[in-house]
Amino acid sequence: MGGIVYHDVTERKWAEKGLAGGVHGLIAVNDRAGGHAGPKSTAQLLDELGDLGVPLVCAGGVGDAAGFVAALRMGYAGVQMGTRFIATDECGAHADYKQAIVAATEADIVHTERVTGVPLAVIRTPYVERIGLKAGPIARWMLRGRRTKHWMRTIYALRSAWQLKRASLAGGAREATSKDYWQAGKSVAGIDRVEPAGAIVRRFAAAALSASGTAKTARPRE
Ligand SMILES: Cc1cc2nc3c(=O)[nH]c(=O)nc-3n(C[C@H](O)[C@H](O)[C@H](O)COP(=O)(O)O)c2cc1C
Repeated sequence: MGGIVYHDVTERKWAEKGLAGGVHGLIAVNDRAGGHAGPKSTAQLLDELGDLGVPLVCAGGVGDAAGFVAALRMGYAGVQMGTRFIATDECGAHADYKQAIVAATEADIVHTERVTGVPLAVIRTPYVERIGLKAGPIARWMLRGRRTKHWMRTIYALRSAWQLKRASLAGGAREATSKDYWQAGKSVAGIDRVEPAGAIVRRFAAAALSASGTAKTARPRE
């Protein structure tokens, strides 16, 4: 009762479906996002969803204050960040996972279908190298069928759930990281330390405020 619902979307057809269901805003999940990334860029999604009349939140690729300000300047109402907040003191993830985010560059982020059946953004590790990025022929065939795709996703999900839990909570160093994978987006590029979540929020808010101040002073006189 009285809740506000923002719906994750990767393209217009899902946005229209969400709006028909009464959502209040949309989270535009782009091709740089951690977790299940979409196929489209930050700019493409803004073009595609910008006329729908609800606030749009950018999800994917924002790891530093400059990226945050850039998304707001483009026209997004806000930014949803995942990867940035994993590398915080408060996050319960293992220190190895946080350090992997800090150490990773954009080029270390790959999309694998072999965890859930749909592209999942993860840090390239020996485990990811071993399982590969594309679903195998049988899995691909199953993923095409209306009913079989649910079975295949369930198989992937069950297999990966315990692996992810073990990798993220128990750390991977003890097994030479050979079985580990960590979800993260290309926002790793802007993340250079583990820090308190509040410090991130304050820094990003200050950057946005100062950018809006600059925009005001830069506005031509009428
Ligand atoms: C480890 C991890 C788990 C995630 N799990 C979910 C999830 O269960 N449901 C969801 O809608 N989005 C999930 N996301 C996506 C985030 O909500 C967010 O859209 C995304 O992290 C934004 O990209 P960024 O990681 O570059 O900031 C997850 C992201 C990460 C990194």
